Amino acid sequence: MTVPAVQWVVGDVEGLPFRDGVFRHAVSNLGVIYSPAPQLVLREIWRVLAPGGRLAFSAHVAHGFGMRAAALVNAHMGVPAVVPEGVRQWADPSALQALWPGEVRTRSIVVHEEHASVEAFWDFSVRERRHVRQVVRMLAPDGVEAFRREFLDLASRYTGPDGFRVAHEYLVVIVDK
Ligand SMILES: C[S@@+](CC[C@H](N)C(=O)[O-])C[C@H]1O[C@@H](n2cnc3c(N)ncnc32)[C@H](O)[C@@H]1O
Repeated sequence: MTVPAVQWVVGDVEGLPFRDGVFRHAVSNLGVIYSPAPQLVLREIWRVLAPGGRLAFSAHVAHGFGMRAAALVNAHMGVPAVVPEGVRQWADPSALQALWPGEVRTRSIVVHEEHASVEAFWDFSVRERRHVRQVVRMLAPDGVEAFRREFLDLASRYTGPDGFRVAHEYLVVIVDK
């Protein structure tokens, strides 16, 4: 398989550094949704897509485990370190439809995550999840213990006889110009 050359460009999705109508596809995996201004972003993407172009992006569903864990991280961090409130707008198909002149289609995808126990999930998260690691590094020992307790309490709601198991649900949104 030949991989085409990729040109990487750093830019703000609320004001893309590209001319009108130059792309056939725009893809964003949990990226554009971090802008609190979907109106601005969708107008920008519409602008840079060619006629007949397609945008596909993934978004967090509002009430999944991920959003609850993010709220916990934010509460202990004292600032919205992950998944700011505005992100919810991106998982509301009718709100998106009101902003996009073409048809908005969505489907849900589920990614399973399993660990032997809630404690194993905690260890994994401290090791592998940047924001969890940041909170742990930032807090004093009693703060870490309070965060850990609440984290385990949340995770234990997703725990059965075989340990921690969560089905992370995401929304995939596909819109055509
Ligand atoms: C969850 S990460 C993206 C993950 C990545 N797409 C992947 O699949 O691994 C969210 C990214 O959105 C970027 N981001 C947030 N607001 C942005 C904006 N206004 N314009 C461009 N990028 C933005 C952040 O810098 C961060 O890198």
